[in-house]
Amino acid sequence: MRTKIVAGNWKMNKTLPEAVALIEALKNNIQPDKTVEVIIAPAYVNLPKAVELLQDFPIAVSAQNMHFADHGAYTGEISADMLKAIGVDTVILGHSERRAYFNETDDVLQKKAQKAYEKNMTNIFCVGEQLEDRTKGRHFEVVKNQLSKALFDLPLQAYKKIVIAYEPVWAIGTGQTASPEQAQEMHRFIRETLAQKYGRDLANHVRILYGGSVKPANASEIFSQPDVDGGLIGGASLNAEDFNAIVTAAKS
Ligand code: PGA
Repeated sequence: MRTKIVAGNWKMNKTLPEAVALIEALKNNIQPDKTVEVIIAPAYVNLPKAVELLQDFPIAVSAQNMHFADHGAYTGEISADMLKAIGVDTVILGHSERRAYFNETDDVLQKKAQKAYEKNMTNIFCVGEQLEDRTKGRHFEVVKNQLSKALFDLPLQAYKKIVIAYEPVWAIGTGQTASPEQAQEMHRFIRETLAQKYGRDLANHVRILYGGSVKPANASEIFSQPDVDGGLIGGASLNAEDFNAIVTAAKS
């Protein structure tokens, strides 16, 4: 049995006062239980406050990105040690917006994934095809490449701290969700790909989240697919009621 995860990716939203208000609303709304892990990923500047407010509450705090170097002349960047020093040991890596707008390549992501492993951080690693890849029938190949280039030189034990998020780019922020069947088909493919590389036992334990326009109205159906282990939620994670409804949909 894989425990489901619902993670909220706040992206570049919420000032500090707004973030505090949302976290307070989440604490009033959400009743996490043992069947679902809840994570939020606020902007860097709001992470220390989020950690403080959630100290005694079972919502984990994640960063949305980090650099692969330990320190140095990388203006504007944040290292794994900086995150860990404020109590953040989860990071989202390879989000399609990072790949598209900030030129994050498979090579860079391989280094970031390696650093997350080295620093014993949970790595929510995002993969997903563009619309054109899907219309041309190469979506499986694209996702397999993203996985293998960034993650497949990691040892088996690294996967204790790796969560895969399948986010078809055409479904992110567009209101267009993959159908439950499309999600299941790709999640199954990802699990098979992991099984071929690392063995069935490991593949059966890795959580694979779906992301892309998950809303209260479609969450249950998506989460009920056998290889979907929860979701990475963008827009709907900015509203406490919606996020709560999605967390509830993941409870078993
Ligand atoms: P969305 O974003 O839920 O707003 O589509 C998902 C994501 O980018 O993680």
